[in-house]
Parts: sequence; structure tokens; C-alpha cells
Amino acid sequence: MAKLWGGRFTKGTDKAVEDFTSSISFDSRMHKEDVAGSIAHATMLAAQHIISKEDKDAIVAGLQAIEKQIDVGDFEFSVALEDIHMNIEKRLTDAIGEAGGRLHTGRSRNDQVAVDLHMYIRKAVVHMGEELVNLQQVFLEVAEKYKEVIIPGYTHLQRAQPVLFSHHMMAYFSMISRDFDNLPLIFKHANVMPLGAGALAGTTYPIDQNITKELLHFDAIYENSMDAVSDRDYVLEFLSFGAKVMMHLSRLSEELILWSSTEFGFIELDDAHCTGSSIMPQKKNPDVCELVRGKTGRIYGHLMGLLTTMKGLPMTYNKDMQEDKEGVFDTIDTLHFAISITADMLRHMKVNGDHTKAVLDDDFSNATDMADYLAKKGVPFREAHAIVGAAVQHCIEKGCVLLDLSVEDFKAISHHFEADILDAITIEACVAGRSNYSGTAPECVARQMQIGQTIVAEEVAQIQQWKEKIHLQ
Ligand code: ARG
Repeated sequence: MAKLWGGRFTKGTDKAVEDFTSSISFDSRMHKEDVAGSIAHATMLAAQHIISKEDKDAIVAGLQAIEKQIDVGDFEFSVALEDIHMNIEKRLTDAIGEAGGRLHTGRSRNDQVAVDLHMYIRKAVVHMGEELVNLQQVFLEVAEKYKEVIIPGYTHLQRAQPVLFSHHMMAYFSMISRDFDNLPLIFKHANVMPLGAGALAGTTYPIDQNITKELLHFDAIYENSMDAVSDRDYVLEFLSFGAKVMMHLSRLSEELILWSSTEFGFIELDDAHCTGSSIMPQKKNPDVCELVRGKTGRIYGHLMGLLTTMKGLPMTYNKDMQEDKEGVFDTIDTLHFAISITADMLRHMKVNGDHTKAVLDDDFSNATDMADYLAKKGVPFREAHAIVGAAVQHCIEKGCVLLDLSVEDFKAISHHFEADILDAITIEACVAGRSNYSGTAPECVARQMQIGQTIVAEEVAQIQQWKEKIHLQ
């Protein structure tokens, strides 16, 4: 097939080279952005009298028809035409003739692909924001539903101190809130318009970038045309955001996997979110959690991949940069599934509060509170720590826990103990006692959840503002 750039060539392209250099198999995903960018460009060219109004009308109608054809699957993409930009331009020229050939006036594929990707990513930011808000709402919901439940809190995966299950959920809420906080900066960097940069140096035509900026709802125009076509920072920021979201989901997945094991027995995942074994009839495997954890590696890979692709690139556009898109698309798809299925899974899991209570009644998670009791009576904390450590050792030898000791036993350990020690180290007392601002006491977690509602409301308002700004339904 004749190339749109074939003028200076005396030979056709090698078939393997066509296959190797083509990006149409993935960049067709940006066809709506490509059409919108071209319509804005043609509209501006006509407003500036660079092309005629008739040509512009033919171009716009032709592009709109092509968008519909692609939407309904009535468009055969050609690998020989390399990418979405040239597939659409060729089809347009075939359909409307000479006017189609005027569309690319004052433009290069370098600023064209950049403007498409900018628009694609700013839209993805909005969608990712919506997914995160949904997940945060689920954390709030689950925290409320199981607000009475106490579970062991861990450090080093050894039982440490009891915490409210809702406190644990709200820790994840906070992580996801920080993920959301990355979005405004990504949106800001994505919402700068590269169009008008041409190949790299600008253009000799009297274009007006303000017109295209307004038509495409950008906040700003790149100050420097060379930066405009060679910048992929906004893509890297998006991939980095994706990597962190997956890291958080992966940590949660790991906990759900542990908690749903027979060894822990803290939760039961819904049958709809698990799979069985082809050989072991008793199995119910947390495959979804494992896959979220597993896919995290791939998403990190996309970030590392593009960082590495970019690191040695001289200014300005280099074909290497075509490698920016697949990682973005895969990150968007993977995050969409991972966030929404995780939210569903949490919403439908059952938390076995009786079991977590029984587990706590049978261990030493209250040892810190026993030491604190002594310290509050004036025993230096280090000394109290040693006394309780010895008491724990004594219990282990006897095969009991601290709450199995009698008041007399406690008094024998230290004369500072009085009858109220038994109430002071119940699991409920351990939780209720941690009532400092960020602690796990019920009223503190209730405060966190209230603030959580405010955060979600602010995020929802932010998303709405983005949608209005870029005219997204
Ligand atoms: N398919 C290319 C990409 O994704 C479009 C830009 C190509 N520009 C060029 N001068 N070859 O990066």
C-alpha cells in the first residue's frame, strides 16, 4: 500500500518492518481522541483561513462518519498504514478527496499522537477517581458493618495488640485516599495541550493554538514545542499512580488470603469470588486476591518499562516513544478490574468476629496493657516490661494466658496489682484504652470514618469538576 509519507522512497516497506513498526493493534483505542483532535485542528485551520470553510466542513463530516464506522466495527484497520492517525487520514482522503489531504497542514503525527494520549489519560484519571471512590465507600461500609469486631493486630506477622476490624479497614481507606491525591497532579499535567508543536519546532502557518486549546478543553498550552512532543512525564505519573494502587491492593489481597485460610479463619469470602480445585474437592481458593497480588508485578513492569524507554532519549520525538501506550492501556484495564472486584469482594465477605475474639482471648495481645497498668502505678515502663515478660514466660510454661491468672497470682507478680487488673486487660479494654487521636478506640475510629465521609464527598466534587471541564458524560 502506498504510504502517506512515501514520496522520497523508491521501494516499498519490508513486510516484517511494517509488522514491527505498526501500532494500530493497540492505538486504535484512541480513535475517539484522534477524531476529536483532528476536528479541532481543522476547525482552527479554517478559522485562521489556512483552509477553506468548505474543506473544513467536508473534513469534519468525513471524520464524524469514520468515528461511527469504527464504533460499529465497520472499519478495517491496516497494519501497512501503521497507526490510528494514518488509518483515519487515509480513509478520510479516500472518502472526501483533496480536502482530506489538507487536514495535516501545520501538524505532525508527533503533536497529534501526543494530544491524543493527553486526552486519553485525562479521561482515565476521571475514571480511576470514580473507581477509587467506590472502593473507599466500601471500606467505610464494611467498617460500619463490623464495627464491633476486634481482631489481632500484627507486627512481624506476630500477634501484637488487638485492634478494631474497622480500624484495619480505615488504614486501607487512608492508603487509597493518598492514591486519589495523586490524581489532580496527573490531571494537571495531562491537561496541557501539545498540539501546534508540529514535528518539534512549531509551524510556519498562522495557527492559533488558543482555538484548539478551547475546543479540546485544555487548561493550558505547552510553552515549548520541543517539550510538548517529547514529554511523557504525565504518562509516567499515571503509571506510577497505578503501581502504587496495585501495591496497596496487593497488600490487602495478601491479608484476605491469610485471613480466609483455615489457619486464620477470620473471614469467609463469598463463593462467587473464589474458585475450586480440579482435583481436591474440598478447596475454595482465593484466586481473585492472588491475581490482584500477581498482576501487581506486571503493572510495576509498565512503569519500569517506560522509565527505561525514556531514559536515554535525545530530544525530541523518537519512535521509542510509541512504546508508551500498551502499558497505559493495560494499567487502565488491570486497575479497573482489580479495584472493582476487590470492592465487590469486600462487600460480600463475612467477618467471623466470634472467632477473632476467641483467638484473642487465648493469646498475649494484652501484655502491653498489663505493663502499662504497672507503669501508670509508677513502675518505670522498662521495669514493667520485664515483669510482664516474665509473667508471659510463666504462663507459657503453665499453658495458660494472662487472663487465666487470679488476682492473687497477679499480686504475687507485683504488689502494684489490684483487683481491677482483670478488667484492665480484657480485649475490649485494650481497644477502648487506645483513645488517642489516631488510636483504635471505637470513638476514634468513628471519627476517622466521619472524616472519611468528608474526604469521599470532596473527591466526588473533584471528579464532577473534571467531568465538566472536559465535557465528559
Ligand atoms: N504511532 C506513533 C506513536 O505512537 C505516532 C507518531 C509517529 N511519528 C513519527 N514521526 N513516526 O508514537
